[in-house]
Amino acid sequence: PHMENINTHIVTLTRFLTEEQIKHKEATGDFTLLCHALQFSFKQIAYYIRRATLVNLTGLAGSSNTTGDEQKKLDVISNDLFIEAMRSSGKCALLVSEEEEEVIFFNSSANARYAVACDPIDGSSNLDAGVSVGTIFAIHKLAEGSTGTKEDILKPGTELVASGFTMYGASAQLVITMKGGGVNGFTLDNGLGEFILTHPDMRLPRKRAIYSVNEGNSLYWEDHVKDYFSSLKEAPEGGKPYSARYIGSMVADAYRTLLYGGIFAYPADKKSPKGKLRILYECAPMAMVFENAGGQAVDSHMNRMLEVVPEHIHDKAGIFMGSYDEIEKVKSFHKK
Ligand code: AHG
Ligand code: MN
Ligand code: MN
Ligand code: MN
Repeated sequence: PHMENINTHIVTLTRFLTEEQIKHKEATGDFTLLCHALQFSFKQIAYYIRRATLVNLTGLAGSSNTTGDEQKKLDVISNDLFIEAMRSSGKCALLVSEEEEEVIFFNSSANARYAVACDPIDGSSNLDAGVSVGTIFAIHKLAEGSTGTKEDILKPGTELVASGFTMYGASAQLVITMKGGGVNGFTLDNGLGEFILTHPDMRLPRKRAIYSVNEGNSLYWEDHVKDYFSSLKEAPEGGKPYSARYIGSMVADAYRTLLYGGIFAYPADKKSPKGKLRILYECAPMAMVFENAGGQAVDSHMNRMLEVVPEHIHDKAGIFMGSYDEIEKVKSFHKK
């Protein structure tokens, strides 16, 4: 009889984090515990999204957030789950969330050394259609001697100690990167209730003919942005023009771009001169993932996204991110 080949050499996120901790001799274990709290919030959010249609969690909550988005019920619930996970970890001193106007300070977490920014559900306009959405997170360490102030989070992405995102799609995916490290992808095994390392050391292809942008905004684009995207539709000698792919959830568009290559962009335009996506919990964490996977991310002025310093917690920027060579092409059009 033929025995099924069972893989006994599984790297769970728990094991991965423990092994990372051992590599860093100075580590106290606080970061590991913070990540355990994060992953539990992801499992909870994934669970409620999957059940939403069955338990009346679709639709609007009837409120708006600071950046002007209408909140869905699941935006509010996921925000509450995320906040509680961070509070109860005892390792998070302060939190910025898309769904909270002000910074939340966890005064009960006296020895907490981390500041976290999150987008509890990215792509929430897609929720009721059952399209993939996800959670984005960015982790900063408090300055030496600080007990946690707004300045601990109003920092450029170059200072991030870790960032990543989840995508709740056909399966739940978690992508995480740490300062100076690579990018690793995990898949939630619903039976085991564990994130399993399925995509070790993710690297973006240097180029791929796929572009992802909301072309409905092209009327408002600057000329160099129009020219760049038009150029992708001209077939090179004997070749094919680019393929267009736009899901409308950055996490899903970014995840595909990470795996297949190409470009995802949300440019600043004449209608939204500062762009749509928010620096602390959308642009910077994604830029860190893309750079650590060998890609690039720049803002609408072609500045390195990770060097952009937000003035306010909900500040926005235009963004172009993707394969290394594709972003070089974007820059060359900007110069013309
Ligand atoms: P969020 O759902 O967190 O508010 O973010 C929405 C963002 C992002 O997910 C996506 O890339 C973009 O908005 C889509 O915007 P358009 O609908 O304007 O294309
Ligand atoms: Mn929103
Ligand atoms: Mn978002
Ligand atoms: Mn959101």
